[in-house]
Amino acid sequence: MKAKTSILITGGAGFIGSHLVRLFVKKYPQYQIYNLDNLTYAGNLENLKDIEDLPNYKFIKGDIVDQEFINEIFDTYKFDRVIHLAAESHVDRSIEDPLAFVMTNVIGTMNLLNAFKSLWKNDFKNKLFYHISTDEVYGSLGTEGLFTEETSYDPNSPYSASKASSDHFVRAYGETYGMPYIISNCSNNYGPHQFPEKLIPLFINNILNGKALPVYGDGNYTRDWLFVIDHAEAIDLIFHKGIIKETYNIGGFNEWKNIDLVKLLCQQMDSKLARPKGTSEALITYVKDRPGHDLRYAIDANKLKSELGWEPSVTFEEGLEKTISWYLENEKWLNHVTSGAYQDYYKLQYQQ
Ligand code: NAD
Ligand code: TYD
Repeated sequence: MKAKTSILITGGAGFIGSHLVRLFVKKYPQYQIYNLDNLTYAGNLENLKDIEDLPNYKFIKGDIVDQEFINEIFDTYKFDRVIHLAAESHVDRSIEDPLAFVMTNVIGTMNLLNAFKSLWKNDFKNKLFYHISTDEVYGSLGTEGLFTEETSYDPNSPYSASKASSDHFVRAYGETYGMPYIISNCSNNYGPHQFPEKLIPLFINNILNGKALPVYGDGNYTRDWLFVIDHAEAIDLIFHKGIIKETYNIGGFNEWKNIDLVKLLCQQMDSKLARPKGTSEALITYVKDRPGHDLRYAIDANKLKSELGWEPSVTFEEGLEKTISWYLENEKWLNHVTSGAYQDYYKLQYQQ
C-alpha cells in the first residue's frame, strides 16, 4: 500500500498552478505532490524555487498532449487525485492559433481523462478529477446580471470554446463512466508570477519601461478580478470539501471597467516609483479592439461562500499593491520572461 495520497497537479509551473503547488506542498506534508508541466513560454520553475527541495514535491516535465508519455507516468506514479490546470490560457494567442488551444486544452484533457479511466478502472473510491476552468465559458454579460453555476455555456473566443469543450468532456466522463469530478469556473486572476501578456502584468512592465499602455477599444470592458492566492485557497477548499459532480463559481465580488482599473494601476505605480502624478496615465493609448471581445464578466460566488464558507481575503487595492510590489522586487524575473520570444509576440500582437 502507498504511504501517501499522491496528487497530480498539471500546469504547476504556471501562474495559478505555482501558487497552488506551493500551498499544497507546504500545507499537506501527508500528500505527495507531482507537478506535471511542459514548461511552455508560460511555465517557469523559478516560480517554485523555494519549495523544489521539499520531500513531498516532485516535478515531472512532459506534455499532456503526448498520450504515450501520460500513460507511462500514470503507470509509474499511480496518482490518486488530480487538479488539472495545464492549459493554453491567453485569449489573444487563441485568436492567432486556435488549434494549439484545441490540442492542449481539449486533447490534453482527454488524454488525462483516459489515463485516469484506465488507471482507476471502475474503482473510484477516494479518487477525484478536479478540473480548473474559467468564467469565460459562459460568454459575455450585458451591463446587468451575474454568471451563476446554472448559466448556459456560450463561449465566444477560441480559448473559451476550448475550455468549454474540456469542461463538457469532464462532465461526460462523470456521467458515462462514473468518474468523480468537480469543476470550478473562476474569474480573472492577478498577482505575482503572472506572465506579462495579461492586462495587469503587461501594463506594470510597460509602465516600468515607459512604453505605451494599449487599451483595447474604448476601455469600457468589465472584468471581475480575484487575487491569485485567494483562488488557490478556494481550490484547496473545493478539493477537500466540494461535492462530487458539482460546479463552483469563484469570483472576487470585484468588477472593474478596464479603463478604471488601468487608471488605479497608474496611480499606484506613480506613487510606488515616486514619479509625478499623471506620469503613467500619459502612457494610455487606445488601440484596435480585440475581435469578439466579451463586454463583461461577473461572477456570483455565493454558492462557494454559503456552502463552503469561502471569501476573498484581500481588497482589490491591497491585492494590486502586493502585486506591484512583487513585480518591482522581481525585475530580474520580469526581464527574464520578457526577453527572447516575448519580443516577437509583442511585435505581432501590438505591431510595435
Ligand atoms: P498559465 O498560462 O500561466 O500556465 C499554464 C501552465 O500550463 C504553464 O506552466 C504551461 O507550461 C503549462 N502547459 C501548457 N501547455 C501544456 C501541455 N501541453 N502540457 C503540460 N503543461 C502545459 O495559466 P494560468 O493563468 O495559471 O491558468 C491556469 C488554469 O486556470 C488554466 O486552465 C486556465 O484556463 C484557468 N484559469 C485561469 C484564469 C486566469 O485569470 N489566469 C482564470 C480562470 C481560470
Ligand atoms: P486579459 O488579461 O487578456 O484577460 P481576459 O481576456 O481573459 O479577460 O484581458 C483583460 C481585459 O483587458 C480584457 O477586456 C482585454 C483587455 N486588454 C487590453 O485592453 N489591453 C491589453 O493589452 C490586454 C492584454 C488586455
